[in-house]
Amino acid sequence: MARYVAWIAETAAPEKRSPVFVAYPAGFDFLFVYWYLIRFVGKSPFSHSALDVKTYSMAMLKCGYREAGKRNMPKRWFDPHPHTHVALDDAIEQGALFCKHAGGEPTMTTVAPYNEFTPLAVEAAQKVFVLTGAGISAESGIRTFRDANGLWTTARLRLPGARSTPGRVSRGGRRVAGGWRKDAELVWRFYAERRAQAKTCAPNAAHAALAALEGKHDGLFLCTQNVDPLHERAGSRRAVHMHGELFKSRCESPRCDSLPFVDAGEYRTAEQIPRCRCGARIRPHIVWFGEVPFDMDLITDALEACDLFVTIGSSGAVYPAAGFARAARAAGARTVYVGPEAPENARAFDECRLGKAGEVLPALFVR
Ligand code: APR
Repeated sequence: MARYVAWIAETAAPEKRSPVFVAYPAGFDFLFVYWYLIRFVGKSPFSHSALDVKTYSMAMLKCGYREAGKRNMPKRWFDPHPHTHVALDDAIEQGALFCKHAGGEPTMTTVAPYNEFTPLAVEAAQKVFVLTGAGISAESGIRTFRDANGLWTTARLRLPGARSTPGRVSRGGRRVAGGWRKDAELVWRFYAERRAQAKTCAPNAAHAALAALEGKHDGLFLCTQNVDPLHERAGSRRAVHMHGELFKSRCESPRCDSLPFVDAGEYRTAEQIPRCRCGARIRPHIVWFGEVPFDMDLITDALEACDLFVTIGSSGAVYPAAGFARAARAAGARTVYVGPEAPENARAFDECRLGKAGEVLPALFVR
């Protein structure tokens, strides 16, 4: 038993990032296992919380206890692991089943150059959720945030309230509001620069490919974290901008009922900042850190309904968007990432197709 405890401790070491489960039938006889551990080792390496896979299936399948049996579980939850009534075999099978349930980290995330994959066939009835990040606009000359020459990595711009400048991961609205309240001129100068630059940028082949897919496939849900208008300039008509839009502004007052409006103004001094009819200042229609992204109900419904989930050019550093892949997978979708390097949340994807968006997208979807 002592060697067993040492093995558990070594296997479940935090740096190993591999959880250890006591699965059926050991889980079934857990009380005896626990007794042996205390009797012969004096301690148990396991916490006292247990998770019953069956009740977990009930939650995932939204069904009663009787229905939550293997016959009602989706095939993708099962791995080719044999069920032999040999404790270790059955424990592995149960462990794999639980990982699939939790939409966790099947170790099968395939990371390879994009041309080693076949195109994604999109069936007429399929629901496709595409999430784009700053990477899709990089080839159009719009800088990303966290790449080597990214906005947050190079611009030593202590922008109050920006969504995570380096080393300043802010928590909660107070700092955001404080940042805007503290230095609205600096905030507007930052967005004036971004508006000026975006006016000179044209969509690239990746934006065009998504606009073409939108034209052919009603089941496409395009959600972007980007505030630039390159999806629309490429012809997309249904892009959902969850972080707002660069060329829109609105009144800063939450009590004012005026609506966001199209605005290409470049305000670089406090005097230039326009006022709303209610007297309050006009702010960029952008979601800052600590603020709730737009259209989250729409997005959540589309995540639960999608069969294929594709992220293009996002580092997976910022939530809630970084959690979408896991949510889509938990709902049964196939999850694919496209970008020159694997993102931080790579393990939430079945495939990471390495390449630039402009190279990959034109031949990615077959519809
Ligand atoms: N094609 C595809 N992906 C690319 C390309 C390219 N040509 N060039 C870079 N990338 C990838 C990078 O590998 C990186 O992982 O794009 C990703 C950009 O990551 P971030 O800069 O972190 O941008 P994003 O994930 O969109 O940021 C999320 O954070 O700062 C906030 O609100 C802001 O919406 C933004 C959010």
